[in-house]
Amino acid sequence: MTMHSDSLAPLLDTAIALARGAGAILLEGLAEIRAGNHGALRFKSGPGDVVTEYDQRSEDFIVSELRRRYPGHAIVGEEGGAYAAQAPAGEPARFEWQIDPLDGTTNFSHGFAIFSVSIGLLIDGVPSVGVVYSPATSDLYAAARGLGAVWNGRPVRVSRVDSLERALLITGFPYDYARSPQNNLRAFDAFNRRAQAVRRIGSAALDLCLVASGQMDGYWETKIKPHDIAAGIAIVREAGGVVTDSAGGEDMLGRGDIVASNGLIQPVMLEVLNSLPV
Ligand code: IPD
Ligand code: CA
Ligand code: CA
Repeated sequence: MTMHSDSLAPLLDTAIALARGAGAILLEGLAEIRAGNHGALRFKSGPGDVVTEYDQRSEDFIVSELRRRYPGHAIVGEEGGAYAAQAPAGEPARFEWQIDPLDGTTNFSHGFAIFSVSIGLLIDGVPSVGVVYSPATSDLYAAARGLGAVWNGRPVRVSRVDSLERALLITGFPYDYARSPQNNLRAFDAFNRRAQAVRRIGSAALDLCLVASGQMDGYWETKIKPHDIAAGIAIVREAGGVVTDSAGGEDMLGRGDIVASNGLIQPVMLEVLNSLPV
């Protein structure tokens, strides 16, 4: 059963309202951090993998609002794991929210204002609604399947750059960079030699929105989680872009790797990634 795009509009409105609410919580946190009050910090996989109290507060806000409004939907939040659907019992939920309450925590924890709230909705496993909000710059990117993508309320399209040599790319690196040889460095080097330039800003959700809005021409990353990319995938696709896994298939959420672009440079990006020495 497919959903008519009209019925996605209220879900999109909810996601926008919740991203703005969570963004207000993060702005309070940013002000505290800039004033020298760092609050309680935790570390996940190592000292590079920090979590602030605002990650949790933002997630608590989004999850409690979603549970109240949509008790039959499943919710996966980065900090709290999976919140099972409350109904109907025994059936897998067709609707699953994927939440990154603060994407770009490392930046945030230093008072650097590049971070976002990412709220994606999978319907039958397909990214169908996405909102990414950067509260410090007031940039809000949003899309729902069949309804197009907007940046601060205006329709957006991907860029028209059709060669890698003229393309501006963006990527990120995994938290196990120092411990694992699969750390994206070879791909970074290959693209850095071939493309016009490669950037790294520290928020995968925003990276995807930069592609959707034509500010970047392509993005790739490995060891990435569904909560980082679910919203951004919906936004890039609605902006006319192409998103695949690194094998050119559609299993980005399962494999944890992703290549997104304006479509024109997608084949050459896949070729570069698949010709790297193992
Ligand atoms: C991280 C950011 C970063 C990406 C990492 C993510 P977090 O998310 O999106 O850009 O390179 O792979 O884990 O930890 O700030 O939510
Ligand atoms: Ca993230
Ligand atoms: Ca996060």
